[in-house]
Amino acid sequence: MMNDSRSFLFLLASSREGGNTEALAREAAAQLPAGTEQRWLRLADLPLPVFEDVRHAPDGGGRELGENERLLLDATLAATDVVIASPLYWYSVSSSAKLYLDYWSHWLRVPGADFKERMGGKTFWAVSALASEDQQVAEPLLGTLRLSAEYFGARWGGGLLGYANRPGQVLADGPALERARDFFASARRPVGASGV
Ligand SMILES: Cc1cc2nc3c(=O)[nH]c(=O)nc-3n(C[C@H](O)[C@H](O)[C@H](O)COP(=O)(O)O)c2cc1C
Repeated sequence: MMNDSRSFLFLLASSREGGNTEALAREAAAQLPAGTEQRWLRLADLPLPVFEDVRHAPDGGGRELGENERLLLDATLAATDVVIASPLYWYSVSSSAKLYLDYWSHWLRVPGADFKERMGGKTFWAVSALASEDQQVAEPLLGTLRLSAEYFGARWGGGLLGYANRPGQVLADGPALERARDFFASARRPVGASGV
């Protein structure tokens, strides 16, 4: 059985509410064992300032964290499992998801956060809706998220894709719903046993 001390953070990265990616993620989450903590955050509700690369600035990039940034950092650190639920936008993640990933670079430098080491202990997952019937076109999204997880030495749980264009349409993608029902169960299987 999946350990109920696991804590899932779902980051909703669509630019519309009630979209397909969220619907698919909720289908998958419904199968998590009772007692598994779930936190759902909509990135559009927590806007981050335009990302600025201050890694090599004279002050070493030291700066105050904004309120939304602090909330997202703390939520990320608190989770054992981080699910990036982003629609496929131009073959990759949405801009809010990408901005969140860019902030990881800031968070590596937050004193006391121990970000790199703590990220390495997590499992990362992707959920995405796309309007193409050819799921191969989501490879850049999956590769971005898988490689970013691997950068930290974290575990890659896998990607769950569903076909949809109009909101709600993903609920008509039977095979995607079937995959959703089993998606997080792969967390119970040995590392490397999950699909994508
Ligand atoms: C800016 C933008 C870019 C998109 N790019 C792609 C794409 O590259 N490939 C694709 O199959 N669908 C693409 N789509 C369609 C969405 O992925 C699709 O409508 C999906 O269901 C939206 O998910 P959501 O309902 O969770 O927002 C794009 C949609 C938008 C708005």
